[in-house]
Amino acid sequence: METISRTSTSQSEANASGKTTRAELHRPQYHFTPGKHWMNDPNGLIMFNGMYHLYYQYNPHGNQWGHMSWGHATSSDLVHWEEQAVAISEKEYMIFSGTTALASDKQTLIAAFTSFDHGLNAKGELIAKAQHQSIAKSNDGGYSYQEIATNPVLDIGSKEFRDPKLFFDDKTQKWNMLVSLSTERKIAFYHSEDLEKWKKVSEFGPLGNIDMVWECPDFFELQLHDNTTTKWILTVSAGHPQNGYLGVQYFIGDFDGTRFVPDKLPYPLYLDHGKDFYAGITFANTGRKNYATMMAWVGSHIYSADTPTDVWKGAMSLPRDLFLTATKGGYRLQSKPPHSYLASLYEKPWGRKGLQLYNGMVEPPFKSKSFMARLLLKNKGSGTAGIKFHRSEECETVVGVDFANNEVFLDRTKGATKIFDPKFPGKDFVPTDASWQTLQIDLFVDHSVVEVFVQKGEYCITNLVFPDENCNTIKLFSEGGMTFFEEFEIRNIKSIWK
Ligand code: FRU
Repeated sequence: METISRTSTSQSEANASGKTTRAELHRPQYHFTPGKHWMNDPNGLIMFNGMYHLYYQYNPHGNQWGHMSWGHATSSDLVHWEEQAVAISEKEYMIFSGTTALASDKQTLIAAFTSFDHGLNAKGELIAKAQHQSIAKSNDGGYSYQEIATNPVLDIGSKEFRDPKLFFDDKTQKWNMLVSLSTERKIAFYHSEDLEKWKKVSEFGPLGNIDMVWECPDFFELQLHDNTTTKWILTVSAGHPQNGYLGVQYFIGDFDGTRFVPDKLPYPLYLDHGKDFYAGITFANTGRKNYATMMAWVGSHIYSADTPTDVWKGAMSLPRDLFLTATKGGYRLQSKPPHSYLASLYEKPWGRKGLQLYNGMVEPPFKSKSFMARLLLKNKGSGTAGIKFHRSEECETVVGVDFANNEVFLDRTKGATKIFDPKFPGKDFVPTDASWQTLQIDLFVDHSVVEVFVQKGEYCITNLVFPDENCNTIKLFSEGGMTFFEEFEIRNIKSIWK
């Protein structure tokens, strides 16, 4: 995705912003969305003084990409969010993605971001002039930032050099910054003593998925649950298992303070196999060693400009606790289904234990567009089974298992009432493993956002869907075979906005 190919919002469009009831059609009710206007990547995620700060790529003037600034929301539990004033505003350059870190005084928050210099071509379209890295500091706990006088601090004369990941390495006592050399499909590593003079120390890549440009690197250490092994994880937003779409890939390896050396694993490895989980980064300063909590933009530069929401555009994923597991094939990164974060919003469960379904359907006694479902199922090897939701005559979204092809899938072929882009409808899937005795699916449905966790997060699939108001029935199903639902549970989820 070349930066310059995006369209920018005009001022008149900007002023046409609407009201913010947060009850509009398609508006998620337990995922963060801005009250109004366009949002893409999460930026600068950090925990400070008991508060989680979520900054994000934001257009304060309209619901299309443009005028990029850092929007801001805060939360004490990663679920209930309060929108704050824009933390870093656009100047003559835009404020692109980046990260934050805590300074050694443990009071000052430091933001590293890409300043995007731009102009207009003869046709009046936005063009890139330069992308360089800048630093801003906050002395009021992350609510406002001041740029330092020596910005930009890192300029290599490139138009495709962005999304700095900033952290202080306690071992080497140096500031580190990773920046994506986007079109080269590389990540450059830099060191600094003072946040102003930066020296390149190594490069990583190309490796894994190189179909699309590389963006939004994140880099963090994780300890295995046995607390003996520690590995470094590099995540990079790039392509998707299906060419032509976007996703987040990851690498696991070792870091000697200068160079990241990946383990020999069957790259590309993806954090999520859906088409709308992008630009994910993790919270800094949480103090947790076994988990890194990630949020991602539920959207895609491929078609998000045309998604059918007016007042606002763009949602954040639920917080995902990423953890390391050791498998026969080496380490892998998995995502814990976020039940613990959401538990206070759960209504009474409805479900069954030990249900056999042969070519049948079971319908819960309620309709809902914001619910969670947990399915544990077994099958003798034929047909498909799972859950259909957002249903009516003309639409439905299906999450299930295809036992013959050994796949878990999320099918949104009929997931949007109106097809707004030919690349939108379709099916995403992950392989099932023959050694799985019981298959567990944890599903989080929230109007236009669907997040699927397979085998407690071994695989995830996240996608947008846009069903009309009347598409709201739910059915458990088994087709073409006998399925044993060892257990299933469905709960309506309360809104965080009421
Ligand atoms: C990723 C991205 C970043 C860039 C930002 C601009 O979605 O393209 O590379 O900084 O969005 O909004």
